[in-house]
Amino acid sequence: MTEIEIIQVCLELANCTEEPGRITRTFLSPPMHDVHRILGDRMRALGMQVSVDAAGNLRGLHGNPDSPRLLIGSHLDTVPDAGAFDGILGVIMGIALVATKPAVAIEVIGFSDEEGVRFGVPFIGSRALAGTLDDDTLTLCDQAIRDYGLDPADLPNARLAPNAIGYLEFHIEQGPILDKAAMPLGVVDTIVGQSRLSLTFEGQANHAGTTPMNLRRDALVAAAEWIVAAETIAASNDGLVATTGKLSVSPNVANVIAGTVRASLDVRHASDSVRHDAVRTLLEAAAAAADRRGIGLKRETLLDQPAVPLDTALIESLERAVKEAGCPVNRMSSGAGHDAMILARHLPSAMLFLRSPGGISHHPAESISPADLAAAMDAGRRFIAEMESAHA
Ligand code: HGY
Ligand code: MN
Ligand code: MN
Repeated sequence: MTEIEIIQVCLELANCTEEPGRITRTFLSPPMHDVHRILGDRMRALGMQVSVDAAGNLRGLHGNPDSPRLLIGSHLDTVPDAGAFDGILGVIMGIALVATKPAVAIEVIGFSDEEGVRFGVPFIGSRALAGTLDDDTLTLCDQAIRDYGLDPADLPNARLAPNAIGYLEFHIEQGPILDKAAMPLGVVDTIVGQSRLSLTFEGQANHAGTTPMNLRRDALVAAAEWIVAAETIAASNDGLVATTGKLSVSPNVANVIAGTVRASLDVRHASDSVRHDAVRTLLEAAAAAADRRGIGLKRETLLDQPAVPLDTALIESLERAVKEAGCPVNRMSSGAGHDAMILARHLPSAMLFLRSPGGISHHPAESISPADLAAAMDAGRRFIAEMESAHA
């Protein structure tokens, strides 16, 4: 597959969406059947053994099932109104590398849910391979699995193959670092940790026209004050990011004071202790904003994902491959979460970033350049060749 063909397949799959006119494809939603069919057909055309496991991961195996195998993969789901390359590019690059007929066995995996949009909990697909799906998450997604035509009882069969020797994920950087440095590729050494919480401010809905300002318990004002405070706290801590991207207001009408507001909180940092301290400070700020208005506050932790270092030997191998492909080597951390952070606790894992022009992602303007993709494919082939000689 040429670079142009890889990009064309990404753009073709962008049409597999829940929302015509924009790219939205969440965990086991109907358009995922089309993605599984289109990519499964491409895998079968290469002689790969293709299956969809009970967590909805698309799995294609090139080579002998009993041989040591390299996993190459990324996720097939997207955020709402997404770009055409986040996740799916890494799966298609895996298929394109199998088309070069490597001697080493390769399992290409399209993970079913990295973003966590449908149920608020990410990494369902890769956690099925790792065997770390907790009962609460299983309860959340059980019916969605059955509705898709799969059987949750088969989840144990989704586990990582015992002869897996490593995991490689190609992914767009989704940030400005490579673009600003005018570098095509980045080798990831650490994926920062992330906390995801849901905060509920419980005030008192009331009439917007008759309720004096000093008698209000306005949940939206309390949340708004806290969101601005959270920005100030994050901006004053080097390398810390805190985001409220989702807000639901009840009753959410113009002439009623907001009684209840649910706000998301996404906190990330390379150091887990800094991240945990920041979450504590942010929750204290939320409680203070609520107390000042006589408002209740409930908080729920949805994810506490430690920072994950990737495998030193694979990082060095990937750096050699990047250098031999004629590109400058740039080791960097990832501010975005990836399935690699789940697998890295179970087998040696590495990630290669492709430059995100304009540093934009989780947005329709997301893009990649054919030249950067060619460099990444060249480095990928060299990485695989080194794997082959190591496991010959
Ligand atoms: O949110 C993230 O870090 C990733 O894009 N899911
Ligand atoms: Mn994403
Ligand atoms: Mn992604």
